Parts: sequence; C-alpha cells; structure tokens
Amino acid sequence: EDTRAQERFDALIAADSRIEPRDWMPDAYRRTLVRQISQHGHSEIIGMQPEGNWITRAPSLKRKAILMAKVQDEAGHGLYLYSAAQTLGITREEMTQQLIEGRAKYSSIFNYPTPSWADMGAIGWLVDGAAICNQVPLCRASYGPYARAMVRICKEESFHQRQGFEILLTLMRGTRAQQAMAQESVDRWYWPSLMMFGPPDEHSPNSAQSTAWKIKRFSNDELRQRFVGMLVPQAAALGVTLPDPELRWNEAEGRWDMSEIDWTEFREVLAGRGPMNAERLRARRAAHEDGAWVREAAAAYAQKRSAAEAV
Ligand code: ACO
Repeated sequence: EDTRAQERFDALIAADSRIEPRDWMPDAYRRTLVRQISQHGHSEIIGMQPEGNWITRAPSLKRKAILMAKVQDEAGHGLYLYSAAQTLGITREEMTQQLIEGRAKYSSIFNYPTPSWADMGAIGWLVDGAAICNQVPLCRASYGPYARAMVRICKEESFHQRQGFEILLTLMRGTRAQQAMAQESVDRWYWPSLMMFGPPDEHSPNSAQSTAWKIKRFSNDELRQRFVGMLVPQAAALGVTLPDPELRWNEAEGRWDMSEIDWTEFREVLAGRGPMNAERLRARRAAHEDGAWVREAAAAYAQKRSAAEAV
C-alpha cells in the first residue's frame, strides 16, 4: 500500500500537480514543509517589530497610516502561514512555543536595528523586494495550501516594496541630509538583504531535496542574482549607490559579479548572536505573555458556546 501511495505522490509531483493536506505524503516532505512554512510564518511575525518601532514616530499622518497597514499585513501573512503549517499536523501552540523558546529559526534580516526613518524605505525596497523574488516562485510550490497562501502574500508584498521605494525616492528628492539618510540606510540593509536568500548553493543542505519535491523552483544563488539584477536599475532611478564596488554585469558569463558576502556575519545571526536577536525574542515573549488573558477569554467563550450548542 505504501509503495502505491509513494507512486501516486511521485506521479503528482512529476505532473506538476498539487499535493493537498489529505493526500498521502512522505514524512520527510511533511517535515520539510513544516520547517519552511513555520520559519516563514515566524519571519512575518518577528518582522513586525523593526517597522513597528517607527509607527509612533512616522513623519506624517499619511506615512503612519501606511506603515500601520503594512505591519498589519505582516501579521496577516504570519497567520496565513501558520494556518498552512497547521494543515500538516503541527499546532499553532507548538510553533509559538518553538519560537519564544528560541528553538525556531526565522529570517536573519529581522535581527537588524531600525535607527532611522529611511530604514522604513530601505526595508520596503530591499527586504520586501528580496521577499518577492523568493516568494513569487513559491506560488508554484507543490504543496497546495502554501502555494495558494503565497499568491495573496505576493500581491501585498509588491505594494510594500513600492511604498518603500517611494519613501526613498521622496528622501532622495529632499535635502542633502535626507539624501544622506537614505544612502546610509541602503548601505546598512544591502548586504543583509542578500543574505535573506540563504547560504550559497554549495552550502545549502536542503536545496537538492526541496528542488526535487518542487518546493523550491530556483536555487538560493539564482534568486540572489535575479534580485541584484532587479535592484541595479532601481538604484539608478533612485540615485542611490549599492555599496559594492565589485558589482558589475559579467557579459561573458551572463551573471553579476559581486564581492564575497560576509557569511560569518550570517552564521552569527543564525546562531542567535545578531545585533537584535535577543531583543526580538524578548519582545515576542512579552507580547505572548501579555496576551495570555485574551487566549484564556477566547477559550472560555468558545467552551461556553459549544456547551450552549450541545443543549
Ligand atoms: N535566515 C535564517 N535562516 C536561514 C536563512 C536566512 N536568511 N537562509 C537559510 N536559512 C536556514 C535554513 O532555514 C536552513 O535551516 P534549517 O535546515 O535548520 O531549517 C539552513 O539555513 C540551510 O539553508 P538551506 O538549506 O538553503 O534552506 P532552505 O532550502 O530552506 O532555503 C530559504 C532557505 C530560501 C530561506 C527557504 O527556506 C525559503 O524560501 N523560505 C521561505 C521564505 C521565507 O522564509 N522568507 C522569510 C523572509 S521574507 C519575509 O518574511 C518578509
């Protein structure tokens, strides 16, 4: 029976069909998806913090409204993704526990501080830009609930990317001090945004299997290259400089040459030793504890309602 189930699964993957929650799937496929989708969900939830930092200080009512909407979108993405992971058998409580106990990964990018308003621009332009490059192919991932969640998420991410670009454009059309603020922020976010795509292909342990299962459609380095190619003309339009003197198009090889990424920094951030790791977890834990009464009230209400319905 198991061999037949495996054959059906393989045939669905080969035909570019979707695997749905009730379909049989190999345990390792399930585990990989729980790993990636929960990490992705955690990234959205932790990702609310760097920008949440600026909601009270946004420079105008309009900017504040946009920023609040964006941070709320991220909460929505997190909840979508947790729901997708739940279809694979893990509970929301387990995922939350893994996160607040520091046992779960989330994107390295959210462990950097946001000291200037221009960071709201650079995050939208670079971080959400990288997220789109990575996530558009995930709309075709083989697991149905994940792929479908990505469709809406990508639409919202492109709005986020444009709003970030527009913040930087406004600053670049402003005073010298505003231009310098925008450039300084791009200098800080550029390299960490390239790290979002993950380790180089030769050091990416999960890639081969995830590609065979059609969860991943492009390699980490392929997407990183695509992202840089997207940034170069946009940086020119903005009038900012990308902080890599080695960056140039290599016509012969059809790829972008660039300086070596600081993988030591990447590993340190993944090991929990980035500039803001401890603070991000502290804030998440505090929010979880502060929300205990809401969860208790919701559970009590649900229980009363089901008791009333049973009568
Ligand atoms: N930050 C934190 N961890 C990372 C990062 C990163 N930028 N890149 C890779 N890793 C981790 C992987 O999760 C993996 O860890 P694990 O095996 O303990 O789970 C390890 O490093 C090795 O990397 P890979 O073998 O390349 O892992 P994978 O095949 O999962 O590829 C990738 C990594 C590209 C991030 C993939 O998981 C993915 O596409 N995830 C969905 C997108 C996502 O999570 N985006 C979050 C940021 S975007 C946003 O939220 C706005």
